[in-house]
Amino acid sequence: MISELSTPQNITVVGLGYVGLPLALAFAKEFPTIGLDVDESRISELLSGSDRNREVPEAEITASRVAFTLDASCVADAEFIVVTVPTPVSEDHKPDLRLLESASAAIGVQLRGRSEGLAAPIIVFESTTYPGCTEGFCGPIIERESGLKSGEGFFLGYSPERANFGDQEHTLETVIKVVSGQTPEIAAMVAGVYGRIAKGGTHLTADIKTAEASKVIENVQRDLNIALFNELAMIFDRMDIRSADAFDAADTKWNFHRYQPGLVGGHCIPVDPYYLTHAASEIGFDARVVLAGREVNESVTEFAAGKISSLLEEAGAVPAEACVLILGLTFKPNVSDIRNSKAMMLAELLAQRHSGVDAYEPVGLIPHDTVTGYNIIDDPFASEKTYDVVVLAVPHDTVVAQKANIGDLVEPGGLVVDLGSALDRVEIESDDRAYWSL
Ligand SMILES: NC(=O)c1ccc[n+]([C@@H]2O[C@H](COP(=O)([O-])OP(=O)(O)OC[C@H]3O[C@@H](n4cnc5c(N)ncnc54)[C@H](O)[C@@H]3O)[C@@H](O)[C@H]2O)c1
Repeated sequence: MISELSTPQNITVVGLGYVGLPLALAFAKEFPTIGLDVDESRISELLSGSDRNREVPEAEITASRVAFTLDASCVADAEFIVVTVPTPVSEDHKPDLRLLESASAAIGVQLRGRSEGLAAPIIVFESTTYPGCTEGFCGPIIERESGLKSGEGFFLGYSPERANFGDQEHTLETVIKVVSGQTPEIAAMVAGVYGRIAKGGTHLTADIKTAEASKVIENVQRDLNIALFNELAMIFDRMDIRSADAFDAADTKWNFHRYQPGLVGGHCIPVDPYYLTHAASEIGFDARVVLAGREVNESVTEFAAGKISSLLEEAGAVPAEACVLILGLTFKPNVSDIRNSKAMMLAELLAQRHSGVDAYEPVGLIPHDTVTGYNIIDDPFASEKTYDVVVLAVPHDTVVAQKANIGDLVEPGGLVVDLGSALDRVEIESDDRAYWSL
């Protein structure tokens, strides 16, 4: 028998990755908090204070009061459960909901053993997904496994994660947190709980699917904006126009919004749009603009690899004999995450075309089994070796801080490729090195 609703007094975070760990640490400052994960190695590293993702310092983990555990039975009597498991896509770009499914099922199984007299738990999903997923996919799984009715024996909520890892300004504790709940009363409770940690405030949506939609469109918009600039950069390259100069000029107009062309990797921007396009196709709508953006951004790696070969040929070099150095391999600057890294994909493509490809990654840890055809090297700025081409693929701050020395890594007459437009073209060209950026 489940008693009346009451404001939750404890939190259980399910899935302690990039999103779940900082969230659990933030909640633990306000509530007794349990952090549950299915990965034994993740729990043991967190118990010893270390974060393989290099996002949270050891001192913060060891000082926190999160009870890290592998034992799912902690869910049985939990009052406020937050689910932060991954939501990737399959090879054919369909939502891969297997982890959401297993987490929902595990929660349902545990709720069967819930102690008598406790209020119905609130289960809030943070994993990025398509509108309708929390109530249409997760809720029925929890119902099936728990024997409880959604909206009676447990309540659902959704609050998308929007922290931008590697960005110290927009953190969980400073941005506005979108929140929602299955009923107005639950929504108010979800807002109240998150309000304790989201110092930037909360924004309550009318229902759960609106909150789900708000998250997915944030990344759709970013993907499309970058895709437009990538497409413009590819057109201008053929026209022999420097796209950065054209963007600078256009940017003097009051209502022009400038974006940086480049590699679009990671597990959010290149993934989340497919959740929306899938949900749209299920209701007979072909989301052409969104899919076109995806296609353009996916083509940039191949375009950059081809461009490097053609620039070498134009300079009279034999591309196959060229030695190449890639600076940065993670999916974006100043983060250690290499999931779906387009810089690593570029390194592989270049290794197929050129004789020797080295790569230097000062921020992320690159497991050996993820490297194909190229070599990971130690700090090239501390070595005498020079290259025919140096590609600044991911402009980590620590590498850009060495920009005055990048030319020294390149043979005179060689090529500097600046994919994130972080270098000074004039300086590089005046030093007898060719320069190319998107
Ligand atoms: N990383 C980001 O920048 C970011 C930003 C916004 C939103 N998101 C979204 O947040 C969600 C989580 O992403 P992430 O990057 O934190 O993933 P992650 O891979 O870093 O971590 C997920 C964790 O969940 C654990 N897990 C998987 N199944 C579980 C289960 N059944 N029970 C308990 N633990 C389980 C895994 O072992 C892992 O430790 C995804 O939907 C993602 O799209 C991520």
